[in-house]
Amino acid sequence: MDPANQRLVDLARQATADQDWTSAARLFRELAKARPETASNWHNLALAATRRDGTAEVADLRRAVLLAPGEPRYLNNLLVGAAEVACVRLIARLLVLAPTHARALADRSFVLLRAGDYDRAFGTARRAQVADPSLAEGVARAGQAKARLTRVVLAKTLYRRYLMLDPTDSTGLGRDLARIGGLGTTQAMTPAFVAGVFDGYAAGFDSHLIDTLGYIGPRVLGEMLDALITSPIECVVDLGCGSGLSGLTLRLLARQLIGVDLSARMLERAWQRGIYDALHQAEIVSWLTLDQGCYGLAMAADVTSYLRDLQPFFQAVVSVLEAGGRVAMTAHEQAEGDFAIVEGETYSHSEAYLHRVAVAAGLAIEQQTRGAMREEKKRPLPTLFLVLRKQ
Ligand SMILES: C[S@@+](CC[C@H](N)C(=O)[O-])C[C@H]1O[C@@H](n2cnc3c(N)ncnc32)[C@H](O)[C@@H]1O
Repeated sequence: MDPANQRLVDLARQATADQDWTSAARLFRELAKARPETASNWHNLALAATRRDGTAEVADLRRAVLLAPGEPRYLNNLLVGAAEVACVRLIARLLVLAPTHARALADRSFVLLRAGDYDRAFGTARRAQVADPSLAEGVARAGQAKARLTRVVLAKTLYRRYLMLDPTDSTGLGRDLARIGGLGTTQAMTPAFVAGVFDGYAAGFDSHLIDTLGYIGPRVLGEMLDALITSPIECVVDLGCGSGLSGLTLRLLARQLIGVDLSARMLERAWQRGIYDALHQAEIVSWLTLDQGCYGLAMAADVTSYLRDLQPFFQAVVSVLEAGGRVAMTAHEQAEGDFAIVEGETYSHSEAYLHRVAVAAGLAIEQQTRGAMREEKKRPLPTLFLVLRKQ
């Protein structure tokens, strides 16, 4: 490589290491212009642009795939970033070039699943499994097809095999397994999956949540707290702080505000607001268990939907609250039972269950109100807003 291009590569790598996505995207664009025949230049450009804006130029991803059709990462990222029609054509083209390309077969199976053609989806996923038995997506798509065909026993077996191949559950099928009764007490949504979802959602999160879904969770909790709290609290923790919408409410109540979240991209957004004193990238229950802090208030706004059993959560929160400290939280409410994975694909919890596990952990129900923190599938999401107090 000539020295000028080598310098560009070094600078682009440095910008990537520094997570300076604006510079990285600019440098990879220059490199792609200088060496358009190199697939990785187009792919790296698309990745940097995704980090910067939340979306990539589909044309850049497509160029990378056409230059290196056998590279599964490029194809996968195109499927995530490109319009579906373009994907379908691309997968078909790849399968003409390489009929036993396992990744392309698994992706073709996914397209068939979405089209409701479950028998062919299963057959195609089986071919993917034969081509590469270690490819988790092939097993996953076969399991999804069987679940849609109501072959529940087989679906459970396939889902379990998939989770053995991909214990981080990057495609989020633990939820499906939980829904068909095949997952014990383990989390149906792994931290890696939740982090991935919100990393991808971060750029458009605020406008989608507020303008499209009418999110009012932090505002309602803030109003409940205003009636109870008369002077600033020394130390407040925002659990699952996301992009910091909840922090905007909390900042007015706190001398020191700490945020915790799984998603690095959401935390970047939160940090840009300049309202947090410290932010931690961690799973909240694990973090609370290790944390030595002593908080007067912990908020969990639109977060318990990602936690199945809330007993460990309440126990961990209570362990870091000062005497008389409070938890302010929303919960997507279900009428009966303890908890379930519902249509919106997150957890809901019943009032009776919430009260039982909160009280068992040493919390009293100080205030409670019902409403809708936001919409889901164009319908108000039944929500319990709770303020709990450590006894
Ligand atoms: C719907 S957003 C709500 C964000 C913020 N609380 C608000 O009110 O805008 C849910 C956030 O919780 C985070 N989250 C979900 N489960 C988590 C867990 N177990 N540990 C840490 N963060 C979690 C997600 O990454 C996401 O940023």
